[in-house]
Amino acid sequence: MLLSNHNSLSSLHVTMAGVKALPLKGTIGIPTIGLGTWQSPPGQVRTAVESAIRDAGYRHIDGAWMYGNEKEVGEAIRASGVPREEIFITGKLPSSRHSKAAEALNESLADLGTSYLDLYLIHWPVSLNPYGNDPKVPTRPDGTRDIFEGWTIEQTWKEMVDILATGKVKAIGVSNFSIHFLKKLEKLGGIQPQVNQIEIHPYLPQHDVVEYCQSKGIIVEAYSPLGSTASPILEEPEIVEIAKKHGASSAGVLLSWLLSKDIVVLPKSVTPARIASNITAAKVPLTAEEIKQIDTFSERNNKLKRFGTPPWGVPLGFKDWGFLPDEE
Ligand code: A2P
Repeated sequence: MLLSNHNSLSSLHVTMAGVKALPLKGTIGIPTIGLGTWQSPPGQVRTAVESAIRDAGYRHIDGAWMYGNEKEVGEAIRASGVPREEIFITGKLPSSRHSKAAEALNESLADLGTSYLDLYLIHWPVSLNPYGNDPKVPTRPDGTRDIFEGWTIEQTWKEMVDILATGKVKAIGVSNFSIHFLKKLEKLGGIQPQVNQIEIHPYLPQHDVVEYCQSKGIIVEAYSPLGSTASPILEEPEIVEIAKKHGASSAGVLLSWLLSKDIVVLPKSVTPARIASNITAAKVPLTAEEIKQIDTFSERNNKLKRFGTPPWGVPLGFKDWGFLPDEE
């Protein structure tokens, strides 16, 4: 029997600051706007997280052990004065610790200074050698990533399911998973990922993965929704034009486009004014035509770009990045 933990995407409820939350089994619900903390350096992330929660009304912080800033994120959450239970916190299991997931989680909990996470994700579907030459990204003598041969993603998922049973995380999911890897977990039966966090923006709309996930009740989260650092997408004439029509910002248009599809957005910023503006700007009433226009932007303009491409050295299974045929 498939133990369904699928989410109903139809029923929405509202949380603080007027941000909608999607029901996510076992949790308080996942606010559809969260603050991304990838590339938010220690020294800056504290102000960012504290002001996001206290001043801008964010109730969702997306982090990861790999970002190297969880201690500061935890301090900022406490300093915000908002009770822990009202904040949705996501962490991620690093590739180098797939076989030691419980230990990795405990470290994140200690760094964040909390007894539980709302959501824990497998950061990438590739396992790296836990006994290698670096705790984060071990490499081989030739400089390539030191893949943990013999350890499977199915084994990693089992570690995640065991963690869920401890109650230290309220929900589990994955990140950077193509359909190929999602199907591997599906074949296991049992508890399935509730969330898949992937890069999505108009240069990389990932319609196939989004459709697949949503057909299975897996909530999709978009990282780099604005097109990452110094984003060229914010200056795209088509986007600027739509923004002008609504008296909105390009960032508002990009976030609203994703929200219109029930995709959770995780805009990253360390700038308090932008942090505040992103949550208020994400309410542009885009028309069906405008949504379609942005949906087809990449294809029409022949602009396909993925901003985050760590050199894994193995196929990831995305259409644009190491496509893998299904193993039937
Ligand atoms: P900063 O952190 O210096 O404020 P993404 O979420 O797609 O990864 O984008 C993050 C990048 O976009 C960061 O460089 C961030 O800069 C910048 N950014 C965040 N919000 C806005 C905004 N409203 N307008 C312009 N740039 C933004």
